Amino acid sequence: MITVRGLHKSYGVAPLFEGLSFQVERGEAVVLIGPSGSGKSTILRCINGLETFDRGEITVAGIELHSINTKRPSREDAERIRKVRLKLGMVFQQFNLFPHMTVLQNVTEAPVRVLGMGRTDAEAEARGFLRQINLEGKADSYPAQLSGGEQQRVAIARALAMRPEAMLFDEPTSSLDPEMAGEVLSVIRRLVAEGMTTMIATHEMGFAREAAGRVIVFDKGAIIETGPPSQIFTSPKVPRTREFLNRVLGRF
Ligand SMILES: Nc1ncnc2c1ncn2[C@@H]1O[C@H](COP(=O)(O)OP(=O)(O)O)[C@@H](O)[C@H]1O
Ligand SMILES: [Mg+2]
Repeated sequence: MITVRGLHKSYGVAPLFEGLSFQVERGEAVVLIGPSGSGKSTILRCINGLETFDRGEITVAGIELHSINTKRPSREDAERIRKVRLKLGMVFQQFNLFPHMTVLQNVTEAPVRVLGMGRTDAEAEARGFLRQINLEGKADSYPAQLSGGEQQRVAIARALAMRPEAMLFDEPTSSLDPEMAGEVLSVIRRLVAEGMTTMIATHEMGFAREAAGRVIVFDKGAIIETGPPSQIFTSPKVPRTREFLNRVLGRF
């Protein structure tokens, strides 16, 4: 579903990725862990066409992104980026809801404007998504009237309303207190259980352990280890994985 092959990317003169490669199969739930600054956000942003890269290629559902310039893309590249973004839902640490729109309008805006859905259909569908995340009663509220956890769940519903083939989450719970984080994680857990292809960068090791089909450990722009959570969290093979888990979990 998602293939990254030989990716090179620098920020200015500082190289970040120097030949990064991995694959995510359809239906897989891949959790990205690793120290701050190791490249987790950047790879998600490259996959979604939000970030340029220098060499290599990324394929999303058969659509290839080359070393494109997202600042000034050619018409063909712009079209590829547009197609890739239609395949992917992305949820960030900051919820980025439209503040002047109600919850229902936030969820129906893109399906109506981008997919050309009729408003009545879009609203009926949106109410279904809101029911799934236990926010049916908040359809007419504005984002500022919701808690952080509720806003993040609306952000997820808004992404799902575009019928993505995969969902990318970049630290979706980092700005939430533990209780709200739990509510958001249980929504993600259900998506994973339903077979949605997901990539999740997170510091929530408990969640990674329980929900991930596979864990990818990043360090300094490289994958240092990958494996099922049962292995990564109990018997990491690479010393730097141990050091990282030791720091965040106080083990090993
Ligand atoms: N816009 C940017 N300009 C320059 N350097 C950046 C930019 N974004 C990220 N970086 C650098 O790239 C590296 C990886 O960052 P990031 O992908 O955000 O890591 P993570 O999400 O794992 O914390 C870091 O060294 C960071 O400083
Ligand atoms: Mg990050």
